[in-house]
Amino acid sequence: MIASTDVARAVEALRGGGLVALPTETVYGLAADATQPAAVERIFEVKGRPTHHPLIVHVGDIGGLAACASTVPDTAARLVAEFWPGPLTVIVPRGDIDPLVAGGHDTIGVRMPAHPLATAVLDRLGRPVAAPSANRFGAVSPTTARHVLDELGSLLDTERDVVLDGGPCRVGIESTIVDCTVDPPQILRAGAVTADQIDTALDVTHDPVSGAARASGMLPSHYAPEATVELALDRASADAAVRAAQRVGHRVALLDRSDDLDAYAHELYSDLRRFDRDGCELIVAVVPAQTGIGAAIGDRLRKAAGPRPRPTA
Ligand code: TXA
Ligand code: MG
Repeated sequence: MIASTDVARAVEALRGGGLVALPTETVYGLAADATQPAAVERIFEVKGRPTHHPLIVHVGDIGGLAACASTVPDTAARLVAEFWPGPLTVIVPRGDIDPLVAGGHDTIGVRMPAHPLATAVLDRLGRPVAAPSANRFGAVSPTTARHVLDELGSLLDTERDVVLDGGPCRVGIESTIVDCTVDPPQILRAGAVTADQIDTALDVTHDPVSGAARASGMLPSHYAPEATVELALDRASADAAVRAAQRVGHRVALLDRSDDLDAYAHELYSDLRRFDRDGCELIVAVVPAQTGIGAAIGDRLRKAAGPRPRPTA
């Protein structure tokens, strides 16, 4: 399978019930026409994702939100007016969207991505698409078409599916998720739209990310590379951890872009994938300052370092 830049072909694939790896400004999504249940089912199969994990619906304009929701809470309307198109998903009461897309939940996550190819596909298709990140369940998200091909290429169908190449994703980590079905709205996943920005837009003080694991990004282990990830609070302790691991013969990599948070986010998943390719056993990662997108980077690093489920036979 090879990547393509042909938007018309991607739209045809979606109409025909195929899957499209769709570039967005956050990460690549694995998209299907949300109105075709058989196509949506294939997303779960290809990802190896449990079917009770809800997918995010992607829309081409702000009006698309009302089409997916039974009602649009005022808080959701304010957030999307401020941050769409962009790296923000709002959870709203589910309207005319197949329950399969929502993992059986009565709520639905909706986002309008800001990437010219995603916009072109959504405009031409004229329907919402369901799209989780285009990786196997639990693995790190793809931020280039190459990542998608490496991970899912053998699982996609060359005849029916398309990997659309929109270059490296600008942000590099997944959207901020805000549950607008509760009052005050709850941030379920940190992202490039920060808690402070959300507070300002809503004129509230946000609840920290907490509560039951309702977003898979809230599970203790997620976004995980093959290598073990160890966190360090500063560069000096990271360097010491690297030296200690080297002394006992481990293949170890240092991850620290904490002097440039945008670059840290942009390169994070590429870095983790590269370390795996190089056969590293241990990645020592410096947790950056928890300001701006640093909070989301810290969140992903903690998930990558979280306890892994035991392999099942
Ligand atoms: O940036 C992004 O959000 C990317 C791009 C492709 O748009 N998508 C993405 O999708 O990260 P996914 O499926 O990998 O992660 C979506 C998260 C999951 O943790 C899921 O549980 C949560 O959103 N989610 C979706 N719908 C939800 C709902 N109705 N209630 C609670 N959580 C929901
Ligand atoms: Mg994901």
